[in-house]
Amino acid sequence: MRPADGENNVSEVQPLFQRVAVIGLGLIGGSLARAIRDNGLAVTVVGADKRADELALGTELGIIDEAAGSVADAVAGSDLVVLAVPVKATRAVLAEIRPHLGENAVLTDVGSTKSSFVNDVREVFGDLPAKVIPGHPIAGSEKSGIRAANPELFANHKVILTPAENVGQPDLEKLRALWEGCGATVLTMSVAYHDEVLAATSHLPHLIAFSLVDTLAGEDENLDIFRYAAGGFRDFTRIAASDPVMWHDIFLSNRDAVLRVIDHFTHDLDQLRTAIADQDSATLLRVFSRAKAAREHFSKMLSGQAYVTNNSQKQVTFRLQPGGRISGEIRVPGDKSISHRSIMLGALADGITEVKGFLEGEDSLATLQAFRDMGVTIEGPDAGFVRIHGVGINGLQAPRGPLYLGNSGTAMRLFSGLLAAQPFDSELTGDESLSKRPMGRVADPLRAMGAVIDTAEGGRPPLKIRGGHALTGIHYEMPVASAQVKSCLLLAGLYAEGVTSVTEPAPTRDHTERMLEGFGYHVHRDTATASVTGGGRLTATAIDVPADISSSAFFLVAASIAPDSDLTIRHVGMNPTRVGVINILRMMGANIEVLEERVIGGEPVADLRVRSAELKGIDIPEDQVPLAIDEFPVLFIAAVCAEGRTVLRGAEELRVKESDRIQVMADGLTALGVETTVTPDGIIIDGGQTMTAGTVNSHGDHRIAMAFSVASLRAEGDIEVTDCANVSTSFPGFVALAKQTGINIAAEGAE
Ligand code: S3P
Repeated sequence: MRPADGENNVSEVQPLFQRVAVIGLGLIGGSLARAIRDNGLAVTVVGADKRADELALGTELGIIDEAAGSVADAVAGSDLVVLAVPVKATRAVLAEIRPHLGENAVLTDVGSTKSSFVNDVREVFGDLPAKVIPGHPIAGSEKSGIRAANPELFANHKVILTPAENVGQPDLEKLRALWEGCGATVLTMSVAYHDEVLAATSHLPHLIAFSLVDTLAGEDENLDIFRYAAGGFRDFTRIAASDPVMWHDIFLSNRDAVLRVIDHFTHDLDQLRTAIADQDSATLLRVFSRAKAAREHFSKMLSGQAYVTNNSQKQVTFRLQPGGRISGEIRVPGDKSISHRSIMLGALADGITEVKGFLEGEDSLATLQAFRDMGVTIEGPDAGFVRIHGVGINGLQAPRGPLYLGNSGTAMRLFSGLLAAQPFDSELTGDESLSKRPMGRVADPLRAMGAVIDTAEGGRPPLKIRGGHALTGIHYEMPVASAQVKSCLLLAGLYAEGVTSVTEPAPTRDHTERMLEGFGYHVHRDTATASVTGGGRLTATAIDVPADISSSAFFLVAASIAPDSDLTIRHVGMNPTRVGVINILRMMGANIEVLEERVIGGEPVADLRVRSAELKGIDIPEDQVPLAIDEFPVLFIAAVCAEGRTVLRGAEELRVKESDRIQVMADGLTALGVETTVTPDGIIIDGGQTMTAGTVNSHGDHRIAMAFSVASLRAEGDIEVTDCANVSTSFPGFVALAKQTGINIAAEGAE
């Protein structure tokens, strides 16, 4: 309920518990007690601690309401008991608690290892009572003791709860609400998983830090190492200054999980030792570049910027002021479709493939990372340059976990074909938007080839692909015109027995066919059908990725609709299966000149000069739809600015892109006061309507966000576009480039 104006928010909070007993007033116990009090989450907070002076400080510092004379006194009458004692003291304290614990009281703890807590509870109680919910706040400080208690300690930190299956939902929800009330984010997982995760991410690094510092400190002559220790050594070993007793307890309590991860690490370290001894550069480079990428992607992940995050959780808002003219000379980032394919084919080739102009967007980076996860050494990307050490058509290794493909439908669909043919199992996952997209269109024909693939309900991701099933070539008549489906089957066909052929109902982008030829793999093409014969090999090559015509499209429309504009876009990919946007805009009266046409690496490229023009509405020919499939959001903006009616038909595919692009565009236009008529397979837009100020929700769809940025050029008021983080999937640097050309744009919440 919203408090009425003037009412104090805090007084609205209903205490979740009557009486909370915190047993053990150290840093964590003290901080929690204080956070519960400060946030009004309990009527009374009572503390117990064997150390009388700490207990006295608890009341003195206002951390607890009451100091209990004994554990028994604290527990009696409490409806929540929190154990915050050292892990090794748990069993003894549980024995003290047990006789006094009320029937309806919930018992939880804050220890770093969970199996040991559960074992102690079983030992003392005979079983694991339904009211016991183990917990672990991932928060701390190098300070200890109640004096260091800090009610903000848990704010923006994670708390892991590991409830057993018989735990009552209301109890779990109350405990979750308590931690959330302290500012934490609560996750639940199994006890065993918690201990595995913590063994790897916290316990092993502490062990290595203790061990390394001890090894170096043990040698007299090594004292100099400490004297000259640079930042790196200091940073790396900071955690070796942690509390020895606590860590002693943790290692012994989480013995099994820690031993497993130590064995794994020792094996990998040994492999590096051998690689150094044997001067095996390939292994060293592979391990280091994979680690570097993983490290970068987790630091990005922590700051919420990478494809590995759920981008929709990061709120980026574009703010646009109306007006502006577009001018200058630009080059937009590399083609997304070609970038994905360059990594895939480069990885499967024999030899080293060098790529220039690679798109460093989240989608193609997801593909790059996935191949690293399958054992491929990839250097870069560095200003669009990537060097791929191909492992050969049969050289991929099983990834250690699921391959996360972020927002990228292309990656997921092309990977499914490739992975269906591998000897190992794999799992493909994606973000919220990708998880809603149909994968039956690839899974069904792959199954017909002999693949074993499980999807979630309705043919959605995740895809679980069973390896080791031989594929046989098929002929497939695609029901929808999809380059992703065609490419998926051609990639599977590289491994299949015999010929795999795909017929498309209308021409779709043919980058896979062209690039396979570039890698020396013959693709037989016969009007609407492309076929490959399995069993061949790919030979490394050099790839020059042209600028993406789909990203250029925003500027083609921008310069067409903004008065007095004159813009040149360099090195744009002009593959005939991609130029629908130019054809359509020209039919609408746009002034686009195609200059310096040339062919680079098997793909046509040109510079485009575009100047303002009076656009007119048209009936968009249906044969242009697959050739402009990604450009419709911004073409709708062109239609609003044109004179007369524009009608789009035969474009139902737009409904299953990163968002339902027909509906989301129509809703966005409504928010700006523009009326449209939505049809099942298209839209009718009457041009000449005024775009007013308004807020548009892009639904996390990069192309919707960029289309409405272009709309601002002809709007009458400020436009706000929300949920724009995914622009970085296809167009990193969009905001800066848009600003440079003359769009009045600012991004809020961006890095
Ligand atoms: C792509 C094909 C198209 C396109 C997507 C990229 C590709 O998807 O929309 O952005 O790289 O093959 P469909 O194959 O689903 O039409």
